[in-house]
Amino acid sequence: MTRKLFVTTALPYANAAFHIGHMMEYIQADIWVRFQRMRGAEVNFVCADDAHGAPIMIAAEKAGKTPQAFVAEIAAGRKAYLDGFHIGFDNWHSTDAPENHALAREIYLALRKNELIDVRTIEQFFDPVKGMFLPDRYIKGECPRCGAKDQYGDNCEVCGAVYQPTELRNPYSVLSGAKPELRTSEHYFFRLSDPRCVEYLKNWTQDGKLQSEVANKVKEWFAEDADGKTQLGDWDISRDAPYFGIEIPDAPGKFFYVWLDAPIGYLASLKHLLARRGQSMEAYLADPELRQVHFIGKDIVTFHTLFWPAMLHFSGRKVPNNVYVHGFITVGGDKMSKSRGTGISPLRYLELGLDAQWLRYYIAAKLNARVEDIEFNPEDFIARVNADLVGKYVNIASRAAGFIGKRFKGMLSRDLGVEGRVLLDGLRAHGPAIVQLYDDREYGKAVREIMLLADRVNEYVDQHKPWELAKQKGQEQALHDVCSVCIEAFRVLTIYLKPILPALAAQVEAFLQVGPMAFADAQRALGAHRIGEFKHLMQRVDPAQVEALFAAGAAAEPVAPPPGGEELAAEIGIDDFAKVDLRIAKIVAAERVDGSTKLLKLTLDVGEGRTRQVFSGIASAYAPEQLAGKLTVMVANLAPRKMKFGVSEGMVLAASHADEKAHPGLYVLEPWPGAQPGLRVR
Ligand code: 2FM
Ligand code: ZN
Repeated sequence: MTRKLFVTTALPYANAAFHIGHMMEYIQADIWVRFQRMRGAEVNFVCADDAHGAPIMIAAEKAGKTPQAFVAEIAAGRKAYLDGFHIGFDNWHSTDAPENHALAREIYLALRKNELIDVRTIEQFFDPVKGMFLPDRYIKGECPRCGAKDQYGDNCEVCGAVYQPTELRNPYSVLSGAKPELRTSEHYFFRLSDPRCVEYLKNWTQDGKLQSEVANKVKEWFAEDADGKTQLGDWDISRDAPYFGIEIPDAPGKFFYVWLDAPIGYLASLKHLLARRGQSMEAYLADPELRQVHFIGKDIVTFHTLFWPAMLHFSGRKVPNNVYVHGFITVGGDKMSKSRGTGISPLRYLELGLDAQWLRYYIAAKLNARVEDIEFNPEDFIARVNADLVGKYVNIASRAAGFIGKRFKGMLSRDLGVEGRVLLDGLRAHGPAIVQLYDDREYGKAVREIMLLADRVNEYVDQHKPWELAKQKGQEQALHDVCSVCIEAFRVLTIYLKPILPALAAQVEAFLQVGPMAFADAQRALGAHRIGEFKHLMQRVDPAQVEALFAAGAAAEPVAPPPGGEELAAEIGIDDFAKVDLRIAKIVAAERVDGSTKLLKLTLDVGEGRTRQVFSGIASAYAPEQLAGKLTVMVANLAPRKMKFGVSEGMVLAASHADEKAHPGLYVLEPWPGAQPGLRVR
C-alpha cells in the first residue's frame, strides 16, 4: 500500500526575511519528505506566507505600502532561500489568497452552526489618535508591581509580573503615544471550554499523535481545579477594523484574528496545489489512508494541538495525524526566535559560497525527535563537515574512482571478493534500521550510524591499499575488485544520505550513470556496470568562510586595528536607532556611592518635571564636584535596572577604549552650549 502524506511546516509571518530558525524547520521537514518519497510515499509538501495581523498591517503602514504590497515583496524574496537550501516545497501560497478567505469563512460558519461561537462584549484599550483597538503589545506603561517604566501590556521585563493591560499605570499607545481609552467592543469567541471540545481534545492530544513530552505538557491544561474548571478558556477569534485579515461573515467591521486563518492556510496551499493538477482537495482529504503531518516549533504548540484540531473536527473536517515539534536553534547561545533574527544570515551563508548541504548535514547530525534546542557551533560545524562528511564519506569515491576510470574503462567488477561482499552485506543489513531512524526523525542517530559504516569502508580501503595494488604486477583483478567494492559501498552510503544531501546524490547518480536512487536500491548490487567520469563532488569548509559568516559587515581582513579597539557593531537601520531615546540631561547632583569605587550616583533632570536617579560607572574619571550642574546625554528609555545600591533609571553616555587597561580614559558626553534638558538627540 502506498503511503500518502500531506506535510506542512509552520507558515512564517510575511514581515521579515527568513532566519536560520526557519531554515532549520524547513530542512527538518524536507529531509523527512525526501526520505518518505525515497521509500515510495506520495507526498504533498506545502507552506505559505502568514500574511495577516496587526504587526504586518502596522509595518506596512510604516513602510508606506498597502499590506498586500508589503507581503508580496516579502514573498518575492522567499525563493532564493528555499532553492538555495534545496527545500522542495510543492507549493508556496499565502493566507491572504482567495482559497484561504473562502475556507476560513466555511470553517467558521460550520463552527457557528455547531453552536461553538459566542459573541461577548469586552473592554479593551483603544487608541483615540490611531482610531483603533490596541493589541497588548502595542500598549506600554508602568508595571503595576515594581513601577518600572515602559513595560508591555502583558508582562514586565524587569520584575517578571504578568498582568492585564488595563492594570498598567500611566498606559500609552506605542503607535501614537496617546493615552489609550477603555472602550467596549463585541468580540467573537470559539467556545473551547464547551464540554464537547474538552472531551475531544483530551483524547486527541493523548492518543499517541504527539511526542510524549508535548502530550505531557498539554495534559496540564486539562487539569481541573477545585470547581472542576480547566485552564481551557474560550478563544477570542475576532479583531476590530482596521485590521489586515479576513472579514467575518455577517459581522461588518470584524475580522478573524490572524491565528484563526493562519493554519487554515495549510489547507489553502494544498487546495491551490491540487487545483493546479485538476484534483479536488475534498476527495484527497477524504482518503482514510492519507496522513496529515505538521512540523512546528515549540512556541506554537497550543495553536496546533488545541485550537487547530478543534476547529477542524467541529467543522466536520479531517484532523492532523501528527504534530511534530522541534526546539530552537541557538547560535552562540542566542535563541533564533521570530523576534530576534540575529546570528547567521542564511543568504549571507550562500553568498559567501558555503555549500547549503553542509548546513543540511550539520543540522541533520544535531537533530533528534525530541523538543530539544540545538546549538550551531562554528568549530563543531567545520569538524563535522570536514572530518566526517568529506573526510569519511566523499573521500571513499575519490580513493577508487580514478582507477576504475583509467584502468578498467569505467567498468565495475562483478566478482567483489569475499571480504568485499561481507563488507557490502554489512552495509545493506543496516538499511532497515536507518530507514526507521529517518521515519522517527532521529536524524542525528541515522547520521552517526552511516558514519560508522563509512568508517568500515575506510578500514577496508586501508587494509587493501588500492594505491599499492596498482603498482604491483598481477594484481589487476584484486585492484578491480577492491575499487568496485568502494564504489558500490559509496553508492549504498549515498542512498542513505540522499534525503540530507539531495544535490550531491544527484551528482553521484550522474557519475554512476544510474537513475534516481530509492532506498530499495541499496539492497541490490549494481553488478558489472559502466560508470561515468568522476568529478570532484564536494569541498571542505574553509574556516575563513565561517569566520566571515560571523563577522559583522564586510568580510575583508582589517588592515589597521579597528577604531577604539573594537569592530563596529552589526549594521542597523534608522528604525533600530529610533528605538533608543537619547535626551539631554542636566546633572542636578552627583555623589559618591558608599561601598563602590566605580559608581557615582547622579540625579538627572530630563525635563520631565521630576528627577531620575542613575548609577554611572564613571567614578574613576570624575569627581562629583566636576559634574554637578553640567549637561550630558542619557539613554532615557532604558528599562530601569535594580542594582545593589538602588534602581537606576537610565544611562549616561561616555566614551572609552575597548581595552581600558591599555588605553585608560573615560569621557562623559557634553552637548554644545544652548541645549536644554529634555531635548531629544537624533
Ligand atoms: O509563529 C508564527 O510564525 C506563525 N506565523 C505560525 C503560523 S503556523 C500556521 F498556523 F499557520
Ligand atoms: Zn515590574
